[in-house]
Amino acid sequence: MIGRLNHVAIAVPDLEVARASYANTLGAKVSKPQDEPDHGVTVVFVELPNTKIELLHPLGENSPIAGFLEKNPAGGIHHVCYEVEDILAARDKLKAEGARVLGDGEPKIGAHGKPVLFLHPKDFFGTLVELEQV
Ligand code: CO
Repeated sequence: MIGRLNHVAIAVPDLEVARASYANTLGAKVSKPQDEPDHGVTVVFVELPNTKIELLHPLGENSPIAGFLEKNPAGGIHHVCYEVEDILAARDKLKAEGARVLGDGEPKIGAHGKPVLFLHPKDFFGTLVELEQV
């Protein structure tokens, strides 16, 4: 059911330091920081030949990654995102298998303008999983 790895999201305490590290030390192609107020994050996109890395930093009050950074002050992998062809079919199969879909279970428009859902990390070995319809 899941397809390509769309991105790995890494929460970082200092976005400019992380951006410079990926650009200079790792030699990757990085975007300028982009504010995503609807998602409570500022994002730097790192373009790799086969996938993307998203460097996330909290934006505004009640950012969904603020608590994560409190528990992981040095930063850490926040979620992985897998592509699916039909997000509603994927959701229904996952629910039938007993997996927990976060929120109200309805897909939301994600940072790339496509429908996304998040799955409970306890159901997937401690990793928050995002599904994105492509
Ligand atoms: Co994501």
